[in-house]
Amino acid sequence: MIYSHITELIGNTPLLRLDPAVHGLAGVELYAKLESHNPFGSVKDRVAWAMIRDDIDAVAARGQSFIEASSGNTAKALRILGELHGIGLRAVTNRVRVTEVSDLLRLLGTDIVELPGLSECPDPQAADDVSAVIATSIATEPDRWYHPSQYTNERNITAHRDGTGTEIADDLACAGVSHLDLLVGGLGTTGSTRGAATALREKYRDLRTVGVVSDRFDFIPGIRSEREMWEVGLFQPDFYDEIVTIDSGTAIDATMTLVRGYGVLAGPTSGAGYAAALRVIAATPRPVDRPLVAVLIVCDRLEPYLSYLAKRRPDLFGRTTPPAPTPAELATAPTITPTALAERLHEVTIVDTRGAMAYRVGHVPGALNIRDDLLDDLLATGLPFPRSRPVVFVCPVGETSARFTAAVTRAGLTSYSLAGGILAWRDEGLPMERG
Ligand SMILES: Cc1ncc(COP(=O)(O)O)c(C=O)c1O
Repeated sequence: MIYSHITELIGNTPLLRLDPAVHGLAGVELYAKLESHNPFGSVKDRVAWAMIRDDIDAVAARGQSFIEASSGNTAKALRILGELHGIGLRAVTNRVRVTEVSDLLRLLGTDIVELPGLSECPDPQAADDVSAVIATSIATEPDRWYHPSQYTNERNITAHRDGTGTEIADDLACAGVSHLDLLVGGLGTTGSTRGAATALREKYRDLRTVGVVSDRFDFIPGIRSEREMWEVGLFQPDFYDEIVTIDSGTAIDATMTLVRGYGVLAGPTSGAGYAAALRVIAATPRPVDRPLVAVLIVCDRLEPYLSYLAKRRPDLFGRTTPPAPTPAELATAPTITPTALAERLHEVTIVDTRGAMAYRVGHVPGALNIRDDLLDDLLATGLPFPRSRPVVFVCPVGETSARFTAAVTRAGLTSYSLAGGILAWRDEGLPMERG
């Protein structure tokens, strides 16, 4: 089959029957909807195209750029589709935390605006949020921007209703499967699960829809955590029959089962979906006269997540990593008060572990900025600091910094955590450096 434009390859993704010998569930037919087969590699290719398709020529003619809140897959698809029409993309995000994803976006020429919130502990400096920054940009330069708005755009849902969901129903019918009991998928904007389930519920009246989120304080790139779902405009909790929480460790193990057991090179959100599917299926009574039928949405591919996997599971790559600090090490991690630090500024190396934006807004004078996730990577390969000077770690409130202080103290370096973090420094009225 010959295609004449890359957009013709969006959608019509395969439905793969997962080998029962691997999942081992008797009386269950489990299928994977391989959205990873879309041309730019993810479930978002359909959505990006659906949101801009009708307007793309007009956007190009007006010389506008796209502006969008995206942590990766939507930005990737929008950027590539835009490039084909000479349209740029500004991706506003506080969630790009996977190196390959941000590198790929940069390689494609995306203008990435990173906001605070990258740090894993709460950031008191984070005055800006993504939607406010986008709204201000549009208000300031209305002619410059076109905002597809995946978190509020109904086309995010209809693209999956008319595409993903309808395709699943057609493929099941072709295979002679007349029932569908469960649809399982990760929740980001919620477009894929809501859209697909909307189409499928018309045909399979008893379908149960299962949404998958990450643990409260955990991170699985591409889906949200329980506490973040309230930020999603399209999210309707009542739409789901069940919302399952999966931690990143379980997601990674399940991702490896998808890879090794079925040859499905899927990203960690698909692993989370697979783990959730097995959990829900195990608790679901089997129909008496037919198999239980379930479909899992496989959202994207494995390759962009190698650093994410390596950081959390170095053993999968044949590497070892020092164990995390014990509660006792954390409790005894040395601290330094803001006033004491102010007197020793020139004797110590200060490392601010917050995100770039928070650092730019204000930091302890002379502090370096090494974001917490990057610092974790550096420490995994050795001590990146000279032993001749004590190191002081700074974070928003003194929690993340205590973790780094404990780890570095264990390695024999004199180090301190700034007690109370940058918030305490500011509250003491001590000078802040900007930029
Ligand atoms: C890798 C990955 N998995 C799952 C999802 C969830 O998709 P949705 O936004 O349709 O809820 C996304 C969306 O960003 C994603 O990028």
